[in-house]
Amino acid sequence: MTRENIKILAIESSCDDTAAAIWCNNKILSNIVANQHVHEQYGGVVPELASRAHQQNIVPVVDAALKKANIQLSELDAIAFTVSPGLIGSLLVGGGFAKSMAMALNIPLISVNHMEAHMLAHFIDEPKPTFPFMCLTISGGHTMINILRSPYNIETVGQTLDDAVGEAFDKGAKLLGLPYPGGPLIDKMAKEGDPKRFDFPIPAIAGFDFSFSGLKTSLLYFIQKNTASNPNFVVENLTDICASYQHALVKHLFAKLTKAAHHYGIKQVGIAGGVSANSAVRSGLEALGKKHNWEVYIPDFSYCTDNAAMIAIAGYFKYLKQDFAPLTISSSARS
Ligand code: KG4
Ligand code: ZN
Repeated sequence: MTRENIKILAIESSCDDTAAAIWCNNKILSNIVANQHVHEQYGGVVPELASRAHQQNIVPVVDAALKKANIQLSELDAIAFTVSPGLIGSLLVGGGFAKSMAMALNIPLISVNHMEAHMLAHFIDEPKPTFPFMCLTISGGHTMINILRSPYNIETVGQTLDDAVGEAFDKGAKLLGLPYPGGPLIDKMAKEGDPKRFDFPIPAIAGFDFSFSGLKTSLLYFIQKNTASNPNFVVENLTDICASYQHALVKHLFAKLTKAAHHYGIKQVGIAGGVSANSAVRSGLEALGKKHNWEVYIPDFSYCTDNAAMIAIAGYFKYLKQDFAPLTISSSARS
């Protein structure tokens, strides 16, 4: 199921990264991301600032993607863009740009769901999973277990009942006084710490669903209790706290993933989304794969956090079905 020489420009603008990629002849020729640093001083993404930064970045980012791939606008067969979910103002910038370009070039427009694109990033490079493929999709806004029976048949069998795991990382980091986004910093500190030093309770939730808000609250109470007797407790024990908190988050993720993989009898198992850049998640999946005899799929770092290469592969699958979007399609904050 491949077609040669299809050239797609893909655009991703769902949150705070402006990204463009070129897919050509079954591979990615360029994958450009402009990160927005304006949010760091506010401790989180400020939606209005994100849309303004997308407006400034989108022309240079698309231009850079075309130049790096050495592709002319006139050669493009389609434009793919993220239609949902995400920050509505950010989605509208990428969507408006993609629509105008598709109209001006008179080529098809392809709308892509951002979370499905995270999962489909596994099908960009070899080795690719075979179907059915189980994907633990973990980002700043989502935590889910999906079964991909084909690129067009994706079922969610478990999801978070409250916070996403990325949120639990970021909010936990904030409680520890670390700057936004705290996930990568907790990961870095945890490498130097002892994951068994402090005990955080693993949530007991039925089925394949997750819950992370209780873990975050237990970290808050733990900090409050210990700083009452020692105001320097966090600073003095930062690496061990990060390692122990991360250990609990990752343990909860893998308990549910293992349960689901066994229940559905699936042995092709992967991770996707921003939190799949986490080193404990990556090494943990390798270890689980060996233990349970799974083929595991761990994305390249450039495909973990938000990027347009994943929008391009998802767009390509839709192109194969000639599943095009009308120019009147609306972006949506929710899936
Ligand atoms: O997929 P993504 O880039 O954006 C969304 O679609 O949400 O995911 C961003 C999330 C943030 O919560 C960030 O803290 C987390 O991924 N993240 C990490 C790491 N790198 C990114 N969390 C833990 N460890 C990391 N190394
Ligand atoms: Zn994402």
